[in-house]
Amino acid sequence: MALLDRFKLTGKVAIVTGAGRGIGRACALAFAEVGAKVVCAARTEEQIQDTANQVRHLGSDAVAVRCDVNERADLEQLVDATLGRFGRIDILVNNAGGTPPCEALYTSERMFEEAFHFNVTSAFLLTRLAVPHMLRTAGEGVVLNISSAAGRFPLAGFVAYSTAKAALSHMTRVLGQEFAPKVRVNAIAVGATETSALVPFLNDELRAKMEALTPMRRLGSVEDIALAALYLVSPASSWVTGKVLEVDGGTETSNWPFPPPSI
Ligand SMILES: NC(=O)c1ccc[n+]([C@@H]2O[C@H](COP(=O)([O-])OP(=O)(O)OC[C@H]3O[C@@H](n4cnc5c(N)ncnc54)[C@H](OP(=O)(O)O)[C@@H]3O)[C@@H](O)[C@H]2O)c1
Repeated sequence: MALLDRFKLTGKVAIVTGAGRGIGRACALAFAEVGAKVVCAARTEEQIQDTANQVRHLGSDAVAVRCDVNERADLEQLVDATLGRFGRIDILVNNAGGTPPCEALYTSERMFEEAFHFNVTSAFLLTRLAVPHMLRTAGEGVVLNISSAAGRFPLAGFVAYSTAKAALSHMTRVLGQEFAPKVRVNAIAVGATETSALVPFLNDELRAKMEALTPMRRLGSVEDIALAALYLVSPASSWVTGKVLEVDGGTETSNWPFPPPSI
């Protein structure tokens, strides 16, 4: 088999949460390009339908499933809909997540717990729901968690988000050990990437500051992340599990362009 064939996902079924736009959409399209059938999940019907249409346009099959990852019943329904339509689950990408910055002393207990639930618990629950079906239908599988550089180095002003992403990264390491050798579990620690979660907050000056603070001198594109995701969900990475791949333009400290809040 040619080495490049190990990046193919022919016949595989992938669930991608947050597939309506940004990194999730780019992952869905990348997987479709190499033959995966994609289950596109998020809350905005029109956006997931659009991603699903693009997947079909690329010659693969897709279904859009409305799902709020914060709702357990929606996660159960997402797994049921996947099995109903495609009869198997090979790949799960826990991509939906994110929490806006908020100074620690203004972060309420509720905000902190909501950030944890959205970024960590929802990924844990969906993994717990999907993995038994991976084992039953395919006998193996792959989970990919979309974490953040903010979970790797301290990012002042983002206590809830950073702490939650650090937990998501560590959960990845634990589950990688626990599910080996049948199910691989990896994460990407994503650096600042041009999506609707970031771009609306940037003007030319702030963007220039972030680029100057990034060794590779540019922000990430969604394709930068999707290419790493493709590696981690494909047989190309069959000897990689429990790892957090840093895709961040080389950053080792924060490139957030605002001064840290002071108390
Ligand atoms: N962009 C960055 O710089 C960056 C950096 C590090 C890590 N990340 C991580 O990358 C992931 C994707 O972020 P992004 O930048 O691509 O964001 P984005 O452009 O805002 O897209 C987020 C996607 O998630 C969906 N979503 C949001 N809340 C959801 C919910 N409760 N249930 C289901 N789907 C939901 C959104 O659709 P609906 O609103 O319609 O549901 C949308 O499809 C996040 O986990 C984020 O923390 C991003």
